[in-house]
Amino acid sequence: MELYDAMRTNPSCRYFTDEPVDPAVIHRILDHARFASSGGNRQGWRTLVVRDPDLKAAVAALHRKQWDAYIGHAREGVVGYNDGGVNGRMAADDLAQRRLTRTDDFSASLASVPVLLVHCVDLATLAVTDRELDRQSIVGGGSLYTFVQNVLLGCRNEGLGSALTTLLAAEEPAVAELLGMPAGFAVGALVAVGWPVPDKQYTKLSRCPVEEIAFADRWGVPFTG
Ligand SMILES: Cc1cc2nc3c(=O)[nH]c(=O)nc-3n(C[C@H](O)[C@H](O)[C@H](O)COP(=O)(O)O)c2cc1C
Repeated sequence: MELYDAMRTNPSCRYFTDEPVDPAVIHRILDHARFASSGGNRQGWRTLVVRDPDLKAAVAALHRKQWDAYIGHAREGVVGYNDGGVNGRMAADDLAQRRLTRTDDFSASLASVPVLLVHCVDLATLAVTDRELDRQSIVGGGSLYTFVQNVLLGCRNEGLGSALTTLLAAEEPAVAELLGMPAGFAVGALVAVGWPVPDKQYTKLSRCPVEEIAFADRWGVPFTG
């Protein structure tokens, strides 16, 4: 698949068929994803490929705990979705509610998704250059999420659907115990992978235009190319 096509046509997949995913395909995706960039090329990413039904059920239950807390706020519009400016921003409108229902369905069916990739990172490998600033850090995750984005694109290239969630990170101690993740590592993301149910997928993604997200030299001057 052409790279730009893959980038533009990779929605979060929330509905998967029961068809199993060949572990060789997951291996191939990881084999390509590992060429991602990381600070100092330290490659601190580690991925748990969870296929065991009991473990998937336990991971799904941990995710569900966090999702239940989140969805209450989301339904009230306290947190929400940006639909790219097409239907209003961060609003508890119909579109946002529909998306929430899809995400709720996803959370409820997570245990039956064929593969759950739990993406972890070795904290000792991260160069957190914004550590001293008086705000939350954003940089540390950079050395994991380049890899995770490659995984998402790799899934698309294979015709697989995928959905990323970070809610599982809040359950890190329980995840560590369940899956044997050693001390010094962190959970960065869960990526669910399977074959998409065709008529349940969004085909046209909604995103903000370049002029809104990129500036020419100074903040606020739209970059028009
Ligand atoms: C950091 C991060 C966290 C996310 N968390 C969730 C999540 O918990 N559940 C979910 O279904 N999707 C999650 N997503 C996917 C986004 O909701 C999704 O990309 C966005 O709504 C746009 O939808 P689309 O990709 O289908 O167009 C997450 C994405 C990112 C990058």
